[in-house]
Amino acid sequence: MISTAASGNKSLLGTKSTIEESLLTPRFYTTDFEKAAGLDLSEGETDLKAMIAEMRADYNRHHFVRTDQFKQDWSHIQGKDREAFVDYLERSCVSEFSGFLLFKELSRRLKDRQPLLAEIFSLMARDEARHAGFLNKAMADFNITLDLAKLTKKRTYTFFPVEWIIYAVYLSEKIGYWRYILIHRHLAKHPENAFYPLFDYFEPWCQDENRHGDIFKALLRSQPNMWKTWQSRLWSRFFLLSVFATHSLTVHERTAFYESLGLDATQFDVDVIRETNNTSARAFPVILNIDHPDFFKRLDRCAARNLKLKAIAESSGPKLWQWIRKIPLIAGTVLDLIRLYLIKPIDAEALREVVR
Ligand SMILES: [Fe+2]
Ligand SMILES: [Fe+2]
Repeated sequence: MISTAASGNKSLLGTKSTIEESLLTPRFYTTDFEKAAGLDLSEGETDLKAMIAEMRADYNRHHFVRTDQFKQDWSHIQGKDREAFVDYLERSCVSEFSGFLLFKELSRRLKDRQPLLAEIFSLMARDEARHAGFLNKAMADFNITLDLAKLTKKRTYTFFPVEWIIYAVYLSEKIGYWRYILIHRHLAKHPENAFYPLFDYFEPWCQDENRHGDIFKALLRSQPNMWKTWQSRLWSRFFLLSVFATHSLTVHERTAFYESLGLDATQFDVDVIRETNNTSARAFPVILNIDHPDFFKRLDRCAARNLKLKAIAESSGPKLWQWIRKIPLIAGTVLDLIRLYLIKPIDAEALREVVR
């Protein structure tokens, strides 16, 4: 739903209180707060205390301030480029805001029983609120904003057990770090492609995500059942594959945005997955063997099918006929994902022994 109102610069500012929902849209999460309050963190206490000192230092306190560079007319960005960029801003804003909501609620619910954790979550919520707010202001430069208060009330929340939250948020923070830093590094080499000042903020910004990831790493390693058991190996593979597949499909839906930055979307997809997979070896008991000849071949096929599914959903015609056309594409994707899941993973615990 979009309502419009005259904004300060006299152009029409649209406020969105709903967003297009698909399997790839970042969700809002809730969890078992009672179980989170009862976690035994003794094995991770030293790491968590070190991380809380970093978070209190608040290195990016003065970073998210809009400079005069933003005060321009952005109407020269039009057509496909504008659509792709606004879509990128919107998904990023929803994703950052999702982190804020979860961390804020965890902080509130854990206050009495886990004061250390409650403070860490409150400091992470502080960062994510800054990130989401900054992105929402960037959207306003393109005459649209998200009504985050209404989204908070209206959107459905997905329940994840505490362990799933730890695996999934660890990965989303680390993949977020790699997305921001790889765009930053590319634009440092090709400044002519930085078409909007937001990208100038990505370097310190990604350090926030890196710290958040390290906090979740400390949480994960403090729970032996999350890395010492055979079940944890299966869950790790599941979450790595889910996050990589979601990333890959999203990047291929958004090639116009990466092209506008002068990036090759397919190469960016591979680079982000490779780096995130390598980083995950520091936290997860296994990582994926992405050098297996089938890995990117199957993932690319899933991304291509996803584009076809999108085209069918947007086409006119009877719903039944749409479904009939979708079935082989969905079946192919499910089969490819199962085959990807079954590729023998790499033992990260053994790698850790070697490093030592
Ligand atoms: Fe963030
Ligand atoms: Fe984060």
